[in-house]
Amino acid sequence: MLFLGENMKKNNKFFVVTYGCQMNKHDSEKIIGLLLSQGYKRAETMEGADIIIFNTCCVRGSAEDRLFGNINSLKLIKDKRQDLIIAVGGCVAQKEGSKLQRKMSHVDVVFGTHNIASLPTLIKEAQKGKIACEVLKSPRDEIKALPVERDNSVRAWVNISTGCNNFCSYCIVPYVRGRETSRSFEDIVAEVKMLASEGFLEVTLLGQNVNSYGRDLYGEIRFAELLRQLNEIDGIERIRFTSSHPRDFNGDIVLALAECEKVCEHVHLPLQAGSDNVLKTMRRGYTKEGYLDLVKKIYEAVPNCSITTDIIVGFPGETEEDFLDTLDVVKQARFDNAFTFAYSPREGTRAFEMENQISKKVKMDNFKRLLEVQNKNSLKNNLVLMEKELEVLVESPSKKKADVLTGRTRTNKVVNFPGPHSLINRLARVKIKEVRSWSLNGELKEVCERESICRL
Ligand code: SAH
Ligand code: SF4
Ligand code: F3S
Repeated sequence: MLFLGENMKKNNKFFVVTYGCQMNKHDSEKIIGLLLSQGYKRAETMEGADIIIFNTCCVRGSAEDRLFGNINSLKLIKDKRQDLIIAVGGCVAQKEGSKLQRKMSHVDVVFGTHNIASLPTLIKEAQKGKIACEVLKSPRDEIKALPVERDNSVRAWVNISTGCNNFCSYCIVPYVRGRETSRSFEDIVAEVKMLASEGFLEVTLLGQNVNSYGRDLYGEIRFAELLRQLNEIDGIERIRFTSSHPRDFNGDIVLALAECEKVCEHVHLPLQAGSDNVLKTMRRGYTKEGYLDLVKKIYEAVPNCSITTDIIVGFPGETEEDFLDTLDVVKQARFDNAFTFAYSPREGTRAFEMENQISKKVKMDNFKRLLEVQNKNSLKNNLVLMEKELEVLVESPSKKKADVLTGRTRTNKVVNFPGPHSLINRLARVKIKEVRSWSLNGELKEVCERESICRL
């Protein structure tokens, strides 16, 4: 651990605000781990912090607007407290670079998605009154393994790749996260073994397109082999992964999903749109039929698999007929959940320049129509679970009632049931007694008493 100077000892409390996807949440764990390892301390609230760090997302305009609103609201505080450091990292920082400090003069530090390791140095520069900004276009050759302060003691995120090469025409991610770069097999296996030895029960493998994992390293897709290797690691009980790209979800992966007992029965399989025309303009690389065929293969291999998806409504030029194709896929695929987004034009992407932008009203109407169909799907799928006993990894007390616990099934469904707090972070068997579209209620049948999961 480095020792801080007298001055920094006084101004060393930080607070991190995170927006965006799981990748960003995991990056925040690295930011926190790195700063703690350098002697900084966590502040309990933003008000109590000397350094406020925003880890940002720009996938849709709404996320960015919210961020700018929040940073602007700190201007008055900064006027009164000149020694307060405001740092902006993540995808907005990568996109805007030093422009951000020109737009908002009270931002002291800007660090890109490839520059987390430089944050302590940048903070020190800012504390000396210098303008601190570092935004690299691509990762440095030697990517340093950063210390990680995990948010949870049983569930852990593990990066298997960063960046994306797909350039879907609406999406800004490849511009802010760079090209797809896979981590080595050995590094990933070593991290998961380490997590198992520390008592973690669940890992979620992260990548913008996990299914193409290894293409840049081994010249062919190796995701299925990775799943099989990780499945052998003692102590890990659940393996999840996100996101999958339907184009790269090959037969080997379907087989690994079926055969690896620790790989959970849940696939997040972004559809984006159901019409072939829209899929083509989105540059997704599959057709409606191809997508439905993959869904069929997954259900055949893993009959109780839960499939969730992302859908964009109102892509430029989307007609009523196109939208009906999306609704048709939603019905046929029987998704357990669909995250629906109104198309948001992102400058720099191909779709930004397209004509035939769809009105806000049509986007909102279609959004509602989609939600109605999906609600029915979800409820129908959950009704099948009545009176079934399911394995639940208990996460926390429920937000509504202190004596009710909440956790997730292997299929990633939320289950609430009455039980003591001592069950948190353990696996339990719960009988489902009531179902809703978005959650299940049940009663405790049994606590799983396996050695590895008795961590109290
Ligand atoms: N790599 C992942 C996640 C990408 S971002 C994947 O391909 O699945 C998460 C979701 O945001 C996407 O799946 C997409 O549905 C949505 N999204 C991306 N760009 C968008 C845009 N410009 N407008 C609206 N939604 C968008
Ligand atoms: Fe964006 Fe497409 Fe890459 Fe996902 S696969 S991050 S939607 S470009
Ligand atoms: Fe957002 Fe960046 Fe993730 S744009 S969705 S935080 S990769």
